[in-house]
Amino acid sequence: MSDNVTKIINGKEISATLRAKIAQKVAAHIDNGGQRPGLAVILVGEDPASAVYVRNKHKACEEVGVYSEVIKLPESTTQNELLAVIDSLNNNSDIHGILVQLPLPKHIDKQTVINAISADKDVDAFHPVNIGKVMTGDYKFAPCTPAGVMYLLKASGVSTEGKHCVVIGRSDIVGKPMAMLMLHSGATITVCHSRTRDLAGVCRDADILVSAVGKAGFVTADMVKDGAVVVDVGINRLPDGKLAGDVAYDEVAPKASYITPVPGGVGPMTIAMLLMNTLAAADIELPD
Ligand code: GUN
Repeated sequence: MSDNVTKIINGKEISATLRAKIAQKVAAHIDNGGQRPGLAVILVGEDPASAVYVRNKHKACEEVGVYSEVIKLPESTTQNELLAVIDSLNNNSDIHGILVQLPLPKHIDKQTVINAISADKDVDAFHPVNIGKVMTGDYKFAPCTPAGVMYLLKASGVSTEGKHCVVIGRSDIVGKPMAMLMLHSGATITVCHSRTRDLAGVCRDADILVSAVGKAGFVTADMVKDGAVVVDVGINRLPDGKLAGDVAYDEVAPKASYITPVPGGVGPMTIAMLLMNTLAAADIELPD
């Protein structure tokens, strides 16, 4: 049991504060004669979860004064038709950021589509050029979910410098870029995955443990060191319809010094970081 009372990192509140600062930066930019930043989100098909995410992105844009264009295409859209839409957005000066909601229908090759987005408008930071820049540390667009985690830690006064940060999960969207951002911030990193030997033992050595596995209840108390910082990136739908993270919250929270809840932890930060990237794409000064 940690000596101190566990601090719950309130992502909902931290995200709302950041979005208010983003709105101020957009307003100031426009007051000074600047162009309104614009984000285009493309949704192909009818996936209900994706439709919710896209609606939330649109709403978040409107709330901070970012022009939002949602392009809904039918499931039957061909890859060439999608590439033509991207090409037109690449050349549209009202649009600074382009996001293609994933997953795409099976007949469309995800990587071909990502490669077609102008790297200068790739606010997801999924384009190989931007992934490379994240590796070197010289990047304009930080990958949204990992950047949201870094923002939460900073806002909570948690330093990563010299710490052993253990990331569970090696996905291109979360695990790998998460490790890079932590490495750039001065942490020692370990990335665990399904083949890791003694995963629990490795996790127990973490000062900061980030779980991005996608399995409810995966991180149990025996995997967490007393006083560790626990960040839960998992979003899992339980049979009863409720959302749960990867972390068995009730048993882990008493051991942690800081912990992010699900919902209300990392989730709300992702859209805020997407807005930050849209401002960056439009060369608007970013808030702290
Ligand atoms: N689907 C789930 N997460 C994401 C994301 O971060 N970006 C995009 N484009 N699609 C997603």
